[in-house]
Amino acid sequence: MGKTIIIVGGQWGDEGKGAIIDFLAEKADVVARFAGGNNAGHTVCVGNEVYKFHLIPSGIIHKKLNIIGNGTVIDPEVLVSEIEGLEKRGFTIDSSNLVLSSSAHIITADQISEDQATGARIGTTGRGIGPCYKDKIARRGKRVADFIKENNKEAKKLRPLVKETYLIINEAIDSGKKVLIEGAQGALLDIDHGTYPFVTSSNPTTGGACTGLGIGPTKISNSIGIFKAYITRVGGGPFTTELGTEQQTKSEESLSELKSKLSKDGFEHLYRKIIHQANQSDEYSEGRLLRIQGGEYGTTTGRPRRTGWFDAVAAKYSIMINGLSSIVITKLDVLSNLRKLKICTHYEIDGKKTGRFPLNLEELKKAKPVYIEMDGWDEDLTKITEFKKLPEKARKYLEKIEEILKTKISILKIGPKRNQTIVVDNKFLF
Ligand code: IMP
Ligand code: MG
Repeated sequence: MGKTIIIVGGQWGDEGKGAIIDFLAEKADVVARFAGGNNAGHTVCVGNEVYKFHLIPSGIIHKKLNIIGNGTVIDPEVLVSEIEGLEKRGFTIDSSNLVLSSSAHIITADQISEDQATGARIGTTGRGIGPCYKDKIARRGKRVADFIKENNKEAKKLRPLVKETYLIINEAIDSGKKVLIEGAQGALLDIDHGTYPFVTSSNPTTGGACTGLGIGPTKISNSIGIFKAYITRVGGGPFTTELGTEQQTKSEESLSELKSKLSKDGFEHLYRKIIHQANQSDEYSEGRLLRIQGGEYGTTTGRPRRTGWFDAVAAKYSIMINGLSSIVITKLDVLSNLRKLKICTHYEIDGKKTGRFPLNLEELKKAKPVYIEMDGWDEDLTKITEFKKLPEKARKYLEKIEEILKTKISILKIGPKRNQTIVVDNKFLF
């Protein structure tokens, strides 16, 4: 039997899954996506080429077979424009490298309007995701199989790619192929397990991979969760380790707006000032520094992301509900320039310390973070090639995370590029 590995977001999405999938896809035969739609946004850097995907799995760059599973929701215009974008860059897209499940659901113009009219309450991406899943569950949705009977540009373009993908993926697994299953969003956005109602409308956790592709849990060899070395969230909802307030973040301009407003020197001056203030324990500046150093602005919507310290309470919960065999820590380089780093080990709710992640929204809103403090580092990590060459303080930070979570780190990211990937333990990889 080959290996079937699920990659899921361990936090509130945007953990840098795309780059990990891209890295692992090199050795995989099949890359499959199981839930969500173009609310997701993956950025993959290959050499100097930057690829941004919302729907197509990043395995497409490696010329592997890519599957968009039954659990996803498809905006046909977005999918077709991604295909055409790849074709313009010299890729040939056909059913040998991209197949779409006939049972996936189609996002309609009405569903997009509905989301845009009602989604602001929780800060959705406005892409029609919730209304599409709502109509699916109410048994009045439009499936891909029906859509491709229509006589329009998108239907014609997608028709040759539509298959009963359950068969393709099961045959691939049974014949010993290496299958990489690509999650979108993150565990804390799961409709069942996330911070409801501030969640997406699908199951981005590992269980969703089985229903969203039509494979049984016995076929899964490993599940790997991706976590940033800190944490971010876009949209509304409780965020225990948030640095600064949601309002402060929302009122900020995007990085490109900021850079175009200021001269190069002006920006450099502001950046130095933020570093200085962050090291005076000004929480908003700590968060803002993570945002600027981490480029924490949405790939889908451009929104500044809310930032906070690594939340080990949420991470333990995520490891539990996903059954993670190992974790990946991304964006460790972003923590440079901070003299002190914090890890949230417990929550305090109504004066009581707990390690449990509360599902009750009222309780979660009341939770205050209990932190341990770690030493930070000033060194630039982006050119480091081996774990043992990391500054000692960075190693200690990671070892502390492993110790608290009782879970091993398999891969470390110290920058967005492919060669900024450090394999720490390949036991759970292909
Ligand atoms: P929806 O998925 O557009 O319905 O949005 C619901 C919530 O999930 C909002 O808070 C979004 O910001 C969040 N969300 C959806 N997709 C992503 C993602 O890929 N990364 C981060 N947050 C996401
Ligand atoms: Mg994303």
